[in-house]
Amino acid sequence: MHRNASRRLLPACLAVATLLATGSVALAQSAPATSSKIKVGFMLPYTGTYAALGGAIENGFRMYVQEQGGKLGGREVEYFKVDDESDPAKAPENATKLIKRDQVDVVVGTVHSGVQMGIVKVAKENNTLLIIPNAGVDEATGPLCGSNIFRSSFSNWQPGYAMGHVLADRGLKKVVTLTWKYAAGEQSVKGFKEAFEAKGGKVVKELSLPFPNVEFQALITEVASIKPDAVFVFFAGGGAVKFVKDWQAAGLKDKIPLYASGFLTDGTLEAQGVAAQGLETTLHYADGLTNPRDKSFRLDYAKLYKLQPDVYAVQGYDAAQLLAAGANAVKGDMSRKPEVIKAMEAAKVDSPRGAFTLSKAHNPVQDFYLRKVDGRDNKVSSVAVKALADPARGCRL
Ligand code: PHB
Repeated sequence: MHRNASRRLLPACLAVATLLATGSVALAQSAPATSSKIKVGFMLPYTGTYAALGGAIENGFRMYVQEQGGKLGGREVEYFKVDDESDPAKAPENATKLIKRDQVDVVVGTVHSGVQMGIVKVAKENNTLLIIPNAGVDEATGPLCGSNIFRSSFSNWQPGYAMGHVLADRGLKKVVTLTWKYAAGEQSVKGFKEAFEAKGGKVVKELSLPFPNVEFQALITEVASIKPDAVFVFFAGGGAVKFVKDWQAAGLKDKIPLYASGFLTDGTLEAQGVAAQGLETTLHYADGLTNPRDKSFRLDYAKLYKLQPDVYAVQGYDAAQLLAAGANAVKGDMSRKPEVIKAMEAAKVDSPRGAFTLSKAHNPVQDFYLRKVDGRDNKVSSVAVKALADPARGCRL
């Protein structure tokens, strides 16, 4: 038996010897998985209203990998990219390109909740590891949760819930909401409403416009006509810049208090200028945190990119940290998927936002800060809700 086995091995040994003799190209092709690179596929918006968000995520991710000498789990990291244009219709084809054509080990994407739905579907069909570095779509860590689906950001429900809690505690009663009509806006409002109404507040009107439209005027006029105690909005990126400026130009800044999830003022303050001063928002990141991890992260990011980091850069950085936890556990052999997943599930991510762990549905359990715009900063005022976990309704893992 033993002898037979070694006899059968002989031709294989000869074949290897031939390969070695015929040169390195053939050798590289037949090399065992232990020496290959980890292939990361960025599926992010590089154009459109969310372009800056995609860039910051990629910057953050690359910075972490660079800090590890360009390697995770001892293997070099190779990048592939597609611009998802924040277009849900193109999502399945774009995700399939990374998975089938480029054969990536992990997809890191994306920003837009509608596009995310397409990526989640394709990642599940192919059992490809997915790390969501922004999009909050509740389903990804709710009814569509999966062992291969992870998030380094937040669920849409979370920042909305935190603000609902804050405004109810301030005794506000009557609030109007305004957002883009797609999952991110609608689910933020849902989270807000859940916390706000549980404590006696009332959302009296829910207004919206299609993504990524920025013709806010008629809606701003409508809000003013209702005379609510406050307005709660979700906008982000380029659209958020325009909304904050339009709100001030309409003369409402000192008349109706404007509150939002922190995306309204993150990465946007330079462009918003005076129109944003004093705005209060809730988010899982803020300026003026005192943990040492944040201090070094901010210094290094500013040095490397000549830019100030924002929440999106943090989420990209932490997506890489999460991947590192998995890759380190298997010494870079990403084919050992169950072990990769187990290590990622158990990770305690040393984030600039403050350390966090993942819920059973793979969503960060994290503090939500109340912040106030002061100059170019979203200065932390307090922790609005500590260790907030998304309820993960419908997730069976
Ligand atoms: C989303 O579509 O989930 C989304 C987009 C931009 C943000 C936050 C959430 O800043």
